[in-house]
Amino acid sequence: MVITVISFKGGVGKSTISQNLAVAFAHQGKEVCIIDADKNQSTSMWYRFRQEDYPKVTVFHVPEKGDIAKTINDLEEKYEIVIVDCPPAIEGITNFAVAKSDFSLIPVATTGGSDIWATESFLEHLNLLRTRLNAPLPAFFVINRFEKNVNMHKAYLEALDQYVKAYEVPRLETILSKRTAYGEANTNGCGVVEWDNPDAKAEIEELAAEVQTFAQKLFANHS
Ligand SMILES: Nc1ncnc2c1ncn2[C@@H]1O[C@H](COP(=O)(O)OP(=O)(O)OP(=O)(O)O)[C@@H](O)[C@H]1O
Ligand SMILES: [Mg+2]
Repeated sequence: MVITVISFKGGVGKSTISQNLAVAFAHQGKEVCIIDADKNQSTSMWYRFRQEDYPKVTVFHVPEKGDIAKTINDLEEKYEIVIVDCPPAIEGITNFAVAKSDFSLIPVATTGGSDIWATESFLEHLNLLRTRLNAPLPAFFVINRFEKNVNMHKAYLEALDQYVKAYEVPRLETILSKRTAYGEANTNGCGVVEWDNPDAKAEIEELAAEVQTFAQKLFANHS
């Protein structure tokens, strides 16, 4: 299974979600790797801090002029789950990653303003790719950094519902809250399932379960 984590907006949690999902899957005994497709190499840095006695998550990066489609093909043979952590830009690399993956996750931070415009421009781009490739290219929103007491965040969820319908990109039920545990775990090469915040651990386990449920449905439809 190949999952691409993508958005045109920087800082929305692509790397955080890639790392935390990978760690959650590794704790279930799955063979999992991340392709760090971003030049900023933040997931590769995270990997350097990961202790060897933790469940294994391997991180690969795509060389400057590397072929991401080939990298995905090769790794798909060897790993049960391949997660592609994308850069925040339209590039050949992101198009290939979306095209080659079983589905994409689009993290959205609910702070409004440019977040919603960046999301819309990504969805327009996704539609172009769907038409050009004549492929469904399934994708889901994942709400990240949510603060339930902030009105703007609740309003954003309502605004996002319009995109859910217009672009056929459902929103996963799991909502990730704003928690310092994400930054702390990241700095230590961990996922929050390995950290001391039970709420963060629970929401990432819920996200991993929801992603797997969707994947099972997708593969059942294909077989
Ligand atoms: N749910 C959260 N709660 C608190 N902090 C978070 C959360 N998710 C992400 N962050 C923090 O927000 C910052 C940006 O997250 P991250 O690097 O995952 O975003 P990104 O989309 O990969 O960014 P870029 O586009 O630069 O690659 C990081 O410092 C991360 O620790
Ligand atoms: Mg990143």
